[in-house]
Amino acid sequence: NKKIAVAIDGPAAAGKSTVAKKVAHQLGYVYIDTGAMYRALTWKSLESGVDLHDEDAVYQQLMQISIDLVMENDGQHVYVDERDVSREIRQQDVTTNVSFAAKHGKVREEMVKRQQQLAAERGVVMDGRDIGTHVIPDAEVKIFMIASVQERAERRHKENIEKGFPSDLSELKEEIRKRDEIDSKREIAPLVKAEDAIEIDTTSLSIDEVVDKILSAIADRV
Ligand code: C5P
Repeated sequence: NKKIAVAIDGPAAAGKSTVAKKVAHQLGYVYIDTGAMYRALTWKSLESGVDLHDEDAVYQQLMQISIDLVMENDGQHVYVDERDVSREIRQQDVTTNVSFAAKHGKVREEMVKRQQQLAAERGVVMDGRDIGTHVIPDAEVKIFMIASVQERAERRHKENIEKGFPSDLSELKEEIRKRDEIDSKREIAPLVKAEDAIEIDTTSLSIDEVVDKILSAIADRV
C-alpha cells in the first residue's frame, strides 16, 4: 500500500489528537502533534521569562532549543532539549498563553520548517491548525474536525474529572472560545478549513465513529 500524509486540523479540544493517534496506530503511521511543539516553546518561554508578545525574543528562544516528540510505551512524550515536559505543557498557564507564541510569523516559519522535515517521509498523521493549508498542502487526505464550544468544553471537563484534575466548565468554555478566536483571527496561517479538506462535525459522533470516517476517507485515496 502507498504511504500517504494525513492532515487533521480544527479548533481547540475538538478531539484531534485522540483521533489522530488512533488513525496512526491503525495504519502503522507516525503521529505528529504540532500543538505540542507550540506548547513546548511556550513552556520554555514562560520558564525563562521571555515576553510571549515579543516576536524576536520568542523566535530567539525557539532557535536555542530542540523540541522532540518521542513515542514511548505509555504514549507520546515531548522533550525540550533533554527534559521531558509532557506534563508541563498541558498546564493551564501554557494553555492560556500558547496562542500568543503561535501568532508570530517568524516563529511559525521555523515551526513549519521543522514540521515539514518530520513529515518528509510519508506514513504520517499530523494534527494542528495549519497542517492542510501550510505545513503539508499536498497531503493526500485532509480532515477538518469541528464541534460546538459547549460540546468540546463538556468533553474536556469530563476528561479532567476522570483524571482527578480540578475543572470548571464555564472557565473551560471561555478558554476554548478565546483560543479559537486568537487562532482564527491571527494574520499568519490562521485556523481555517483547507478548500479540499473533508469536514467532520464530531458533535454527535463517538471517537471510533470519527476514526472510521477518516480511515474510509484514507482507503478511498490509497
Ligand atoms: O493542538 P493544541 O490545542 O495543543 O495547540 C495549542 C496551540 O498551538 C493552539 O491553540 C494554537 O495557538 C497553536 N497551534 C498552531 N498551529 C498548529 C498547532 C497548534 O498555531 N499547527
